[in-house]
Amino acid sequence: MRRIIVAGNWKMHGSSEMTADLISGVARRAFEASRISEQRELGYDILVFPPAPYLSQAVANSDSLPITVGAQNASQFDSGAYTGEVSLAMLSEIGCEYVLIGHSERRKLFNETDDEVAEKFAACLSESVKVRPLLCIGETLAERQSGTTEAVIAAQLDAVIDKVGITGFADSVIAYEPVWAIGTGETASPEQAQDVHAFIRNKLDKLDAKIAQSLRILYGGSVKPSNAHALFVQKDIDGGLIGGASLEVDDFAGICEAVQKIIEKT
Ligand code: PGA
Repeated sequence: MRRIIVAGNWKMHGSSEMTADLISGVARRAFEASRISEQRELGYDILVFPPAPYLSQAVANSDSLPITVGAQNASQFDSGAYTGEVSLAMLSEIGCEYVLIGHSERRKLFNETDDEVAEKFAACLSESVKVRPLLCIGETLAERQSGTTEAVIAAQLDAVIDKVGITGFADSVIAYEPVWAIGTGETASPEQAQDVHAFIRNKLDKLDAKIAQSLRILYGGSVKPSNAHALFVQKDIDGGLIGGASLEVDDFAGICEAVQKIIEKT
């Protein structure tokens, strides 16, 4: 079984206080649920993606806790005159282990194209960088209604595959996030999500079965404690990328507890 990931995308929310409280609160509840205090290893991975100013603090706060820190965005460039941008080397230096690439809000609100997304993904794979890409893909409501979901997903994936090849996915994570389910309270049904996850895995399987079968594909879009279990038990769903419900200890820990139940049954 692939190791489940529970990832919290805080977006532009939070504070120094929230960073400290959320990390300690979630770790405590995750330990309680696993009934192993002072344990260093849970049976699944917890990732948090705080806003850039809190990343260093989050790395320090999660030291010796089973929580890994990632950034919400990074530049595709190594260094230079790019005012306002943050490089992957910088993120790597302060201890970030993951970065979200191509979140739909960046694609839509900041006009990130498939090509730029592919460049950012490729930059993560450079020798000097130790930050893993978590690639976000997903269709809009209009695309789903017009029956082009798979074509849209395929194009988003192909842009990255064309740039880095299938081997670029060996140490990466994908999040399928239907845009119509993000922040709307409307979740894809477990079957709808599983169908797209299977499509993604099968597409990659044709290029490299080993990479495709070990790749973790997360679902994102209004995941909450009440629907996490039904989504994450699907064959090709390996956890979630969670926005709104990652901002409260009770909600995020509730999702971790759902995962704990799943792994105890397997
Ligand atoms: P949501 O956001 O859980 O609030 O729908 C998910 C995301 O944007 O990653």
